[in-house]
Amino acid sequence: MHLAAFVSAGPVSGSHGGWRYPGADHDITSLGYYTRLARTLEDGCFDFVFMADILAVPDRLHDSMDSQLRYGALGSLRLDPMIVLAAMCGATRHVGLACTISTTYFEPFAVARAMATLDHLSGGRAAWNIVTSFQDSEARNFGRTQQFAREERYDRADEFLEVTCKLWDSWADDALVRDPAAPLFADPAKVRRINHDGRWFKVRGPLNVSRSPQGRPVLLQAGASDRGKDFAARWAEVVFVTHAAPEPAAAFRHDLRARAERFGRNPDDIKVMPGIVPVVAETRTMAEDRRALLESLAHPTAGLSTLSYHLDIDLSEFPQDEMLPEMDVPGVQGHYREVAELTRRSGIPLGELGRRYGVGRTAAGFTGSPTDVVDNMEKWLAAGACDGFMIQTPYMPGGLDDVARLVVPELQRRALFRRGYEGTTLRDNLGLTRPAA
Ligand SMILES: Cc1cc2nc3c(=O)[nH]c(=O)nc-3n(C[C@H](O)[C@H](O)[C@H](O)COP(=O)(O)O)c2cc1C
Repeated sequence: MHLAAFVSAGPVSGSHGGWRYPGADHDITSLGYYTRLARTLEDGCFDFVFMADILAVPDRLHDSMDSQLRYGALGSLRLDPMIVLAAMCGATRHVGLACTISTTYFEPFAVARAMATLDHLSGGRAAWNIVTSFQDSEARNFGRTQQFAREERYDRADEFLEVTCKLWDSWADDALVRDPAAPLFADPAKVRRINHDGRWFKVRGPLNVSRSPQGRPVLLQAGASDRGKDFAARWAEVVFVTHAAPEPAAAFRHDLRARAERFGRNPDDIKVMPGIVPVVAETRTMAEDRRALLESLAHPTAGLSTLSYHLDIDLSEFPQDEMLPEMDVPGVQGHYREVAELTRRSGIPLGELGRRYGVGRTAAGFTGSPTDVVDNMEKWLAAGACDGFMIQTPYMPGGLDDVARLVVPELQRRALFRRGYEGTTLRDNLGLTRPAA
């Protein structure tokens, strides 16, 4: 089983009540906060830390950013994830470092270079969470009034990946010779231009960074629309999903593996990791009390506001005491499908849905003692729903301490999880092959 930790360099990672939780560390703009967190994850043998990102303060609910800022909702503050990961890199030796970067607002050369640099400095621990972004408020920070349509975003992302892969492969593995006597620093015969000339990008290359330990960073993705799944099946090595129950998650994984085969890939080269929000304590009663406290601390408007931003729809325009209607959302289809599943199953009205969304992801059964939580993880695994989990802890950094202290030893006792790092690179630890140049 693989484990990753979802972290946002801001107030919310798993629950909107988290930053108000007693003992929460508010020092989210300090270096020490992130280096301590990275060490906790490494002590817990996590595969990688995943840094989410967003390029604007969300303002979808009531066309205003007030509730997002006032209630410390998702995206109200967000440090640059690459710089945070560089700091974590210096404080650790094994844990993988996954950075979210948008293909819509950045350029392939700069991204390929930053990723190759992180891979070198970390000794082969870099990963890229490829996002296409999904809000107009982000477009407005990058010289546009509206975002591209989904199809265009994915067209650009496909070409973006073609270019970055060509750049990472533009230096042969043995191109950097560093022979002072010859003298031969780098062999010109082993460094090539890429001469890419496409619809979105013109890039001559080569990259000005030699081939990095993993060859290419591990590629992560979270698209759940039809096009998003094809994109993941073509490029991604780890897919991050959200599902309310193991059965739909298993269907998703099955579909994704079949799509990967259609792209000529081995389905085992694509790992599916659902996001879960564990609330764990020594006993079930303590965990339930903790969950109740978190629920009371998450302001209902904060959850509705974040759900509005995720779906890119102003949910204040719908009756709060009725069920969320079926619709085609411009935003994240993965999040829509997750809340639609929950609405269908339990028939809860929109206002309540917003409240639950604010408390944390909607998958049930992850509140309890270490035995309860690990039993449920085993159930998901046995149902073929996943290859591991993306842990979104509701309160930081204590929630990750609790997972490392309580859940990881129980997983290890059942021989479901490593007791030490087996490999030197993130690819080794995830069981992924290193791409040839
Ligand atoms: C669990 C999850 C986490 C995500 N994290 C981010 C993120 O940190 N930043 C971002 O811009 N998009 C994020 N996304 C959005 C996806 O990358 C993608 O853009 C979005 O799902 C739209 O594609 P889709 O319609 O194919 O799902 C996330 C999506 C999911 C389901």
